[in-house]
Amino acid sequence: MLNGRFITLEGGEGAGKSTQIKLLAQAFAAASINAITTREPGGSAGGEAIRNLVVSGTTDRWNPTTESLLFMAARFDHLETKIKPALANGQWVLCDRFYDSTYIYQGIAKNVGTDWLDQLYRQLFANTAPDLTLLLDLPPSVGLARTDKRGNVAESRFEQMDISFHESLRAGFLNLAKVTPARIQTVDATQDAASVHAAIIDAVNARFGLALKPAS
Ligand code: TMP
Repeated sequence: MLNGRFITLEGGEGAGKSTQIKLLAQAFAAASINAITTREPGGSAGGEAIRNLVVSGTTDRWNPTTESLLFMAARFDHLETKIKPALANGQWVLCDRFYDSTYIYQGIAKNVGTDWLDQLYRQLFANTAPDLTLLLDLPPSVGLARTDKRGNVAESRFEQMDISFHESLRAGFLNLAKVTPARIQTVDATQDAASVHAAIIDAVNARFGLALKPAS
């Protein structure tokens, strides 16, 4: 029986997810609601080890199917060792990326197909679908300019993909949000960080009947 709630943040490169997840965690802490933040790929010892394999190196380092399985393996470790125990413990889990990223990056943009991924998802991750997903949407040119500035060369394997890949990520995410309106809320991530945070707080409050105040 799972008690906590599971919120994920999704989006393309440079959407501001890590800034926003920190602000959201601050808002939960200010309301004395027990929440943890985590990320994918990563979040657990095994997940972080796999992260190193998938975010660095040349763009063609992995066959897209192998890559999909690596993300799913990292997710299984993360889910079993961190997410499920936290939810069972009544904690809210705020996670930077989850299965939607595999569905869009590998399933759609890298064209490995979504049916077999969905099948695997259902078999491995049944009952742990996010309660709410916040899609931080912005044009790839804006997001990639932000990541360029950040200059995290060691983890730039996906950023190096050509612009058409990033455009197909954006279109894929927007379409997924359109067909999954009960779970996915789209937020305009071109706004400044405080405005994006305010929109996220509104969405979380509305979805769960909370009265969180924006972190300042
Ligand atoms: P991050 O930069 O948001 O930490 O994510 C690392 C990269 O991994 C990012 O470029 C997106 C990519 N990714 C996938 O391609 N598939 C996945 O399932 C996940 C979780 C991330």
